[in-house]
Amino acid sequence: MYTSICFLALSSVIHAEPERVILEYELGDNLQYPLYCKVGDINKSSWKRSDVPISAGEYVFDNKKYSLDDKSPPEYNLKLKKSLLKNDAGKYSCTEGSKEIKIYILIAKESASIPKHSKSSISSMLGDTVNLWCNATGYPEPTVTWYAGSGEKLESIGISGNMLGIRNISQSCNTIYQCQAINSYRMKKPVVKNFTLRVDFIPDVSVGIKLNGKEILNGGSVLGRKKDRVVLSCSIYAVPPPNVTWSRDNITIGTYHHVNGAIEKSSNTDNFLYELKTKALETKIGITVTLDFTLDADYTFASYHCDAENEVGSNRKTVKINHVQKR
Ligand SMILES: *[C@@H]1O[C@H](CO)[C@@H](O)[C@H](O)[C@H]1NC(C)=O
Ligand SMILES: *[C@@H]1O[C@H](CO)[C@@H](O)[C@H](O)[C@H]1NC(C)=O
Ligand SMILES: *[C@@H]1O[C@H](CO)[C@@H](O)[C@H](O)[C@H]1NC(C)=O
Ligand SMILES: *[C@@H]1O[C@H](CO)[C@@H](O)[C@H](O)[C@H]1NC(C)=O
Ligand SMILES: *[C@@H]1O[C@H](CO)[C@@H](O)[C@H](O)[C@H]1NC(C)=O
Ligand SMILES: *[C@@H]1O[C@H](CO)[C@@H](O)[C@H](O)[C@H]1NC(C)=O
Repeated sequence: MYTSICFLALSSVIHAEPERVILEYELGDNLQYPLYCKVGDINKSSWKRSDVPISAGEYVFDNKKYSLDDKSPPEYNLKLKKSLLKNDAGKYSCTEGSKEIKIYILIAKESASIPKHSKSSISSMLGDTVNLWCNATGYPEPTVTWYAGSGEKLESIGISGNMLGIRNISQSCNTIYQCQAINSYRMKKPVVKNFTLRVDFIPDVSVGIKLNGKEILNGGSVLGRKKDRVVLSCSIYAVPPPNVTWSRDNITIGTYHHVNGAIEKSSNTDNFLYELKTKALETKIGITVTLDFTLDADYTFASYHCDAENEVGSNRKTVKINHVQKR
């Protein structure tokens, strides 16, 4: 019983909170009325803005900006003399002694904007989690909506709020994300921010084989004769873009360098018969490096390797060319 009374007494002290008033204003407005406050003793009273004193008793620190309405003694009203700017927003409190009597919260009405947000270009790896932020500000509180897709095909992804969390990133997350923020204050169109998410992954390598113009589908090995024409097309999907090397056994034939898009052919004289070409694939993250040659000297019957390497890792595909056995 005793503790219960004690608790009640305590809680009643806690709840003796000052009255709070929220005032919205538009930039350039003048406050029509002062901030009202009734005190017992003006000499013990003060106005503060975010705990910085504006006045002490009858003294006003910045009298160009503020004045005390000197109507009748118990009233200790603060007048803001100038038209209001954005940085006039905040907490104004009237205190007597150490007790807060009244609090005004001034809020500037403002169109939505996105002053803080994630970097506009983000790299990630498969399986990562990425959080995109659009920390919109404005009053009334802006609504933030997220969109995804590239080019014209941005579609709402049904998520609202300052953050878009993307979990277990896959290659298909490689696109543009957009946030739009809008509120009801003088806005017809939302403000937008774009984010390009790059998903890095190890090169995905496959090799297509053509023998005398015909496609061979049996994958890793080919039976050929002298004078047969072989076209090996190595298709690579990778982010970031890879360097690609064709080699015969352990001898380099040539390397495609993604930095300048050029092929550097090996100076080995055995390699003159190989022609190398590149072609970009439809998706921007793909390239084909083709090796085109005619089976000739015995050494051309060999294993051909396509190696693709980027900053994440490397992959190889091999095609073995065997001589058709004579009976
Ligand atoms: C407040 O202080 C002023 C001078 O500091 C004094 O003249 C006045 O009488 C005081 N008022 C009260 C109510 O104590
Ligand atoms: C956005 O605000 C959240 C807290 O609400 C914070 O954790 C995050 O770091 C902010 N993002 C940026 C880019 O400022
Ligand atoms: C954002 O991306 C969309 C779609 O790609 C584009 O139409 C728009 O101009 C971009 N906006 C900004 C602010 O970069
Ligand atoms: C992450 O995605 C991959 C497919 O992209 C899936 O195989 C795997 O199970 C997922 N992992 C988790 C933890 O959801
Ligand atoms: C390539 O392999 C052969 C035998 O397999 C070896 O004699 C030769 O030294 C190797 N060359 C290089 C450059 O590794
Ligand atoms: C690709 O080749 C360039 C030289 O053209 C080299 O600087 C770079 O390190 C190579 N990248 C990888 C991932 O091997």
